[in-house]
Amino acid sequence: MHDFSNQVVLITGASRGIGRKVAEEFASRGAYVVMTSRSQAHIEAAAQEIREKGGEALAAVMDVGQPDQVQSALSGIGENVEKVDILVNNAGVARDNLILRMKEEEWAQVLRTNLDGLFYVTRQVVAGMVRQRYGRVINITSVVAQTGNPGQVNYASSKAGIIGFTKALAREVASRNITVNAIAPGWIETDMTAEMRPKMKEELRKNIPLKRLGSVEDVAHGVLFLASKEAGYVTGHVLNINGGMYM
Ligand SMILES: NC(=O)c1ccc[n+]([C@@H]2O[C@H](COP(=O)([O-])OP(=O)(O)OC[C@H]3O[C@@H](n4cnc5c(N)ncnc54)[C@H](OP(=O)(O)O)[C@@H]3O)[C@@H](O)[C@H]2O)c1
Repeated sequence: MHDFSNQVVLITGASRGIGRKVAEEFASRGAYVVMTSRSQAHIEAAAQEIREKGGEALAAVMDVGQPDQVQSALSGIGENVEKVDILVNNAGVARDNLILRMKEEEWAQVLRTNLDGLFYVTRQVVAGMVRQRYGRVINITSVVAQTGNPGQVNYASSKAGIIGFTKALAREVASRNITVNAIAPGWIETDMTAEMRPKMKEELRKNIPLKRLGSVEDVAHGVLFLASKEAGYVTGHVLNINGGMYM
């Protein structure tokens, strides 16, 4: 499925979970993957594993919520790769709390990483895509942007913002042959959901029409489709990968 030879993919938050699987899938289909996260040791280990399997991967430290760091990291990456064809904005955090207890820092950190970070990274990468008259941008939002979820006013707000960002940018850059889409995963088995109590997970499972949590592969396969040449007429779309939780 899909060949990404001679294409460069930049993935934020690629040290574990969904982002790491996305990087592995692209690399196994011929892409040169640029993997970023905040931790030098973790991102280098993830890239090294891909290289050991014969793929091409570059690791870079980049905290998406720090505009100066984003600028310098992307400039550094630009010295190693001539172009970026595909951008996967995946880095994200959750700091759950009920609104009456939510601290300003919990609100700010989630918005800074999930939404401000999307802006800092995308504005710089899209500049190159506009020049080359080609690009694919894929933003990872969440089902909770569509349904809401108690304890997540910060996270749901940031993820709903990503949907608006996706549609506005899709219109802005369509004439340059750049598509911009979002993926809204439901509950996916990663570190982000690992802390959930088993009883709560069981309750969740019961309410998912397909009766299971999603896997990182489920999400990665949606990313590959939206990044493919074959998806060239899809833009401004939100692809639900949620087992039927929201239709
Ligand atoms: N898992 C789910 O159920 C689920 C459902 C819907 C949507 N999503 C979304 O899918 C995306 C990936 O989630 P996941 O479950 O794979 O999460 P995860 O396992 O917690 O991994 C998050 C990744 O983001 C990186 N990251 C966090 N803060 C960052 C920052 N400020 N700058 C750069 N990188 C940062 C982390 O690396 P470092 O810590 O090294 O920086 C890590 O690589 C997120 O946007 C999440 O909101 C997840």
